[in-house]
This record gives sequence, C-alpha cells and structure tokens, in this order.
Amino acid sequence: MAIIYTVFFLIVYCSLVYGKCQIHQDDESTQNVYKNMEKWKIFGNNLTVFSNGSTFSVGICSSPYNATDVAAIIQKESNVSYVLGNLDRVNLIQGDKWILLTYENGDSYDNVCNNLTRSASIMFVCGSNMTGLTILQAHTTSNHQCNYMFQLQVPDMCPIVEKDDKLSGGAIFLIVIGSLAAAYLVLGAVYMHVKHGARGIEHIPNLGMWRKIGGLAADGCDFCCRCERTSPHAGYFFDELGPDVRDDDILSP
Ligand SMILES: *[C@@H]1O[C@H](CO)[C@@H](O)[C@H](O)[C@H]1NC(C)=O
Ligand SMILES: *[C@@H]1O[C@H](CO)[C@@H](O)[C@H](O)[C@H]1NC(C)=O
Ligand SMILES: *[C@@H]1O[C@H](CO)[C@@H](O)[C@H](O)[C@H]1NC(C)=O
Ligand SMILES: *[C@@H]1O[C@H](CO)[C@@H](O)[C@H](O)[C@H]1NC(C)=O
Ligand SMILES: *[C@@H]1O[C@H](CO)[C@@H](O)[C@H](O)[C@H]1NC(C)=O
Ligand SMILES: *[C@@H]1O[C@H](CO)[C@@H](O)[C@H](O)[C@H]1NC(C)=O
Repeated sequence: MAIIYTVFFLIVYCSLVYGKCQIHQDDESTQNVYKNMEKWKIFGNNLTVFSNGSTFSVGICSSPYNATDVAAIIQKESNVSYVLGNLDRVNLIQGDKWILLTYENGDSYDNVCNNLTRSASIMFVCGSNMTGLTILQAHTTSNHQCNYMFQLQVPDMCPIVEKDDKLSGGAIFLIVIGSLAAAYLVLGAVYMHVKHGARGIEHIPNLGMWRKIGGLAADGCDFCCRCERTSPHAGYFFDELGPDVRDDDILSP
C-alpha cells in the first residue's frame, strides 16, 4: 500500500515540477486559482518585454527556455542575465479583480538588497491584450527597488456580463402604451368612417380634443423657448379654454 502511495505521490509531484508551476498539494485555495488559470490557455506562452536595456522573457507557469527548465522569468542585460524566479517556488493569490502569481528563489542580488534571492510577480487583470506585458517595477541599473512586478491583461479576468433577455418594466410599459394608442387610432378611425362617414384627417378620433392639446403644447413651447419675446400676452394659456379660433385658422384648409 505504501508503495502505491509513494508512486502516486511521485507521479503527481513530478508532473507539477517540470514545465509547470509547482503548487502545494495541500493548499486548496491556491490549487483552485491554479485550476482556473489553466482554462485561460496561457501556460506555455512565451512573453517578451523590453525596457531600458533589459529584456525580460516571461513564462506563465512554464519556462521561457525549455520545458525541462525551472527558470520562470529571465532578465537579460547587455551581457549578463538573471533568473528572476523559479517554477518550483510559486505563490498564487486571488483578490477581487486580480490574481497575483509570484515566482521566488531566483538568482541572488549582488551586494544590494541584502543579497536576497530575486523574486518576480505577475498581476493578472481584466483586459483583452494577452500578449502585451507591462512592467510595473523592475530592478535595473537605474532602478534600485528590490522587486519585479509585471501586469498582464486576461479576458477571463473580466466580470461575466449577464445578458438580460427579459424586457425591463419601462420597455413593457412603452409597448403597452404604444399598442393602446395604435388600437385607439385604428378602431377610432374605423368607427369614424363607418358611423360618421369621415374622410381624410377627420378619421382621427376626438380630433377636436387633440387639436386643443396640440395647441396647448405649441403654446407651452412658445412660452418656454422663445425667450426673445418681450411681452407674452397675458392669459395666453387660458384663451384656449374659450372657442379655439387660432388653431382652426391654422388647420382649416
Ligand atoms: C534608463 O537607464 C538610464 C541609465 O541606465 C537612466 O538614466 C534612465 O532614467 C532610464 N530610463 C528609464 C525610463 O528608466
Ligand atoms: C522565448 O523567447 C525568448 C526570447 O525571445 C527565446 O530566447 C526563447 O527561445 C523562447 N522560448 C520558447 C520556448 O519559445
Ligand atoms: C533545457 O533545460 C535543461 C535543464 O535545465 C538544460 O540543461 C538545457 O540546456 C536547456 N536547453 C536549452 C535549449 O535551453
Ligand atoms: C560585460 O560585463 C562586464 C562586467 O560584468 C563589463 O566590464 C563589460 O563592459 C560588459 N560588456 C558590455 C559590452 O556591456
Ligand atoms: C553580500 O555578499 C557579498 C559577497 O558576495 C558580501 O561581501 C556582502 O557582505 C554581502 N552583503 C550582505 C548585506 O550580506
Ligand atoms: C498589446 O500591448 C502591446 C504592448 O503594450 C502593444 O504593443 C500592442 O499593440 C497591444 N495590442 C493590442 C491589440 O492592443
């Protein structure tokens, strides 16, 4: 039994060491983040970014060199190159809108940064440019921060937009009103035609009332918009309540 376990463990362990990020088997949240990232189909991509004399070759849970190497990110300056982190020392953190992948245990700094080993992080954020890696921070001859940070856009990090097939309340309201108006016009026109033998514009039901409302609306526009008018004549609105002379003048043939 122990042998089977050992063999099983070795298979799992080895498959994770080479060409992939090595995640601790007992860290469930990290494992879940890793499984989600596998769906991005980004592992094995070889991203290169150039900045001020340094070229960075960045592997996403893969080595930019070859499948059996553990170096995850390589920085090349004019004639030196450093490994910035290894696939066998990986940390994954997921926040609300980002995932942070950190490779540790790279080459040591020389006489700076307490001679610590280099480590580098890639921040995955929502976006569509999966090839354009951005350098947010990098230790170079001109930048003495003891850190490397890259940012990469991944479409899968974007929030899922749920398509709402249902009509909104407002749309339903407008459709109902529109249908009622159409039915009113059609039925009214038929009624006017059959009952009163209407012709032309007379087909519109309650024509007189609509004319009055149209007149009021026009007056409203006049009153509100024509600011240059110096003396709006008094009782203008209320004139409409009396016999409607002006509109009849306009509308009658
Ligand atoms: C590039 O490096 C030079 C010196 O190596 C430095 O003067 C310059 O500010 C750097 N530029 C950027 C954008 O970091
Ligand atoms: C990744 O890119 C670097 C730099 O362009 C190159 O040297 C290396 O061979 C590439 N690796 C793979 C696996 O394509
Ligand atoms: C691939 O990786 C192995 C192990 O690190 C190394 O010995 C070999 O030189 C690498 N091959 C290339 C082409 O980089
Ligand atoms: C290569 O590095 C050495 C020291 O590591 C330096 O003296 C030399 O000038 C560098 N050569 C180039 C071409 O940058
Ligand atoms: C870093 O390493 C060098 C030797 O490579 C040593 O002389 C120096 O004291 C070390 N610095 C620190 C802060 O440990
Ligand atoms: C992606 O980013 C790179 C580098 O920032 C840029 O050169 C490239 O044009 C971008 N591609 C798209 C489709 O935006």
